[in-house]
Amino acid sequence: MSGDPVLDVTELSVAYGDRTVSTIPALTVAPGEVVAIVGESGSGKSTALMAILGLLGGTAARVEGSVRVLGTEVVGASEKALRPLRGSRMALVMQSPQASLNPTMRLGRLLRRALKRHGVPAAEAEARIADATRAVGLDEALLQRFPHQVSGGQAQRFAIALAVCLGAELIAADEPTSALDATVQLDVLALVRRLAEERGAAWLVVAHDLALVSMIADHVLVMRDGEVVESGPARTVLADPRHEYTRALLAASPTLPTGGAR
Ligand SMILES: Nc1ncnc2c1ncn2[C@@H]1O[C@H](COP(=O)(O)OP(=O)(O)OP(=O)(O)O)[C@@H](O)[C@H]1O
Ligand SMILES: [Mg+2]
Repeated sequence: MSGDPVLDVTELSVAYGDRTVSTIPALTVAPGEVVAIVGESGSGKSTALMAILGLLGGTAARVEGSVRVLGTEVVGASEKALRPLRGSRMALVMQSPQASLNPTMRLGRLLRRALKRHGVPAAEAEARIADATRAVGLDEALLQRFPHQVSGGQAQRFAIALAVCLGAELIAADEPTSALDATVQLDVLALVRRLAEERGAAWLVVAHDLALVSMIADHVLVMRDGEVVESGPARTVLADPRHEYTRALLAASPTLPTGGAR
């Protein structure tokens, strides 16, 4: 793997009016790495993801600092400059993908359309779809179904398959498991871990459950009131949280760390 980070964030801050709602002083994510962002509601997690993916352009948000994705500066970049990164090199996986998928299209068609939009020839698209479906553990027969005909866990695997088949190198997932049952949550997070290792994408995963996400993350950022209050290797944060707020989050976690935690 190359030594260049996929994502390099320096002094990122997002403000609405005179209120700064999200800041990340420094963050680098290498290929194959999983970084978790946790913190209470309103702490600025989603805002940080949106800023990193360049999705706050044209909104009331004032974004400052530097976000380099695969060497391209995202802060202040035009839509045109971001287009080569969008979808194919960086992708967003949302909490409830079912709600954002076209309900009148079968899953297979949704994948084919996305690949076509990104200029992937039809024959290669079929091979990529088969590969990505297998990689996320979905039965290919499921691609015949409409979005409402699959479970939440299957829909989340599908959303991940979409990012995988487009070949995304930075995948940001905003609470990908919060809408799922506890057992399915861990399955999906384990999938993220395995895909990061096997495929080498860099992952940013926003989560509520610090103990749970720490099991699969390399690095954890804990946010509160728009600031990073703790940042460190997941194992260290889990075993020896330094900030009182991190300890409170761990105590409130519905999942206690197991002996198998990373
Ligand atoms: N368009 C906007 N205009 C003004 N304030 C906003 C806007 N979008 C977000 N905010 C504010 O920014 C802060 C951070 O919001 P954000 O959605 O990033 O939090 P979060 O950590 O993702 O929360 P949750 O866990 O509930 O998803 C909140 O106080 C929110 O009200
Ligand atoms: Mg959010």
